[in-house]
Amino acid sequence: MEQHKALVVGSGGREHALAWALAKSPQVSQVIVAPGNAGTRQEADPGGKLSNININAGDIPALIQFAQSRQVALTVVGPEAPLADGIVDAFETAGLRIFGPSRAAARLESSKVFAKSFMRRHRIPTADYAAFNNYEEAAAWLRAHTGRIVVKVDGLAAGKGVIICATPEEAHAALRRCMLEREFGDAGATVVLEDHLSGPEVSLLAFSDGKTVLTMPPARDHKRIFDDDRGPNTGGMGACAPVPSVGIDLVEKIRSEVLQPAVDGMAELGTPYKGVLYAGIMLTTEGPRTLEFNCRFGDPETEVILPLLKSDLFDILMACTEGRLAEVAPHVAWHTGACATVVLASPGYPGNYPKGLAIAGIESANAMQDVTVFHAGTASADGQVVTAGGRVLAVSARGDDLSAAISRAYWGVSRIAFPGMHYRRDIGHSH
Ligand code: AMP
Ligand code: GLY
Repeated sequence: MEQHKALVVGSGGREHALAWALAKSPQVSQVIVAPGNAGTRQEADPGGKLSNININAGDIPALIQFAQSRQVALTVVGPEAPLADGIVDAFETAGLRIFGPSRAAARLESSKVFAKSFMRRHRIPTADYAAFNNYEEAAAWLRAHTGRIVVKVDGLAAGKGVIICATPEEAHAALRRCMLEREFGDAGATVVLEDHLSGPEVSLLAFSDGKTVLTMPPARDHKRIFDDDRGPNTGGMGACAPVPSVGIDLVEKIRSEVLQPAVDGMAELGTPYKGVLYAGIMLTTEGPRTLEFNCRFGDPETEVILPLLKSDLFDILMACTEGRLAEVAPHVAWHTGACATVVLASPGYPGNYPKGLAIAGIESANAMQDVTVFHAGTASADGQVVTAGGRVLAVSARGDDLSAAISRAYWGVSRIAFPGMHYRRDIGHSH
């Protein structure tokens, strides 16, 4: 079998999970992660396929040069920022194969105004909204509006650009922060004011080659820092998949009402969507409503979705880049059962936190059956794995059902320790 090199761009738990899944492919001889973390280093995978290269995810020219000089067959991009900056366009211009949307297609995530008007045009169910680039007009609209509002900055804001407002005063204050104080820089020069919706949320991710849409198991992410969804939002403190209350009929409804129309609409616009399309959905009493699109794999959703994938990830991603997903999709298989992941966070996260704390017990957790420890914010110092980010590790486990997966993940967590380590104890509950 032909052997290929793959390059994964990014450094979090999502990228470790992508590299881990690609390394399982018999077609892949090496997976290089740029810049990666302590879990994707060669030393962490003795005799294995993983290694790191010290190039930042944003350094597109250096990544191109590396992919060319090392004859990388396929590059996979983790985070949204390089996608919004046109990494896919630049690689393709250089004649390199890359999995992800073009800069124009990534606007589904990089501009909320684009995404909302696109959804309205294509009748994709979402909350009613108005968009403004003028503060006075936005404030006047707010004064005339009744009902709760969510203020969203147009551009990328590292997950912080959505402000849920309980009262009109809070909405006015949010508007001032975005448009006058420019707390989010240029990202907040334009805002979306959106009706507040309520209901449980689900993340439905799909592979697309620009035409065909292949959904993954529905996942649920736990964004708040504390148990029972209290405290500030984080990048995600844990996840599980599939979500027991989201059955195949509901997945199909979201595919046919949200994901397929989005892919068809982008093709019509002349900016076909290739890559992972992630729909953040709220299950309201009126039906599923799209809260957001992301143009990439979710984190920590990837750490529960990829362990469930039975088929060869490299095959699926190659098929997407070649417009052959329809051929491959009927053969893609998933494990039965469920997967859960628990994120272990640094003391102080999501606020300020120290770095360089020694972590113990990773190998012991990894040695457990069906447990995989994905590194997120880790680094190696003097041969030791130390903390280097807010979200440090994602401990994933599969089980015959969700409760088995959850107990196994917490069993893995019990082996690991670092000073001030904290995590949620209720991952996977309330489904
Ligand atoms: P987004 O980045 O647009 O997904 O927003 C982040 C989070 O804000 C979502 O996961 C929801 O929990 C919440 N959110 C976004 N839009 C709304 C809305 N219209 N109503 C209520 N909550 C929302
Ligand atoms: N887990 C949410 C995200 O990846 O955007």
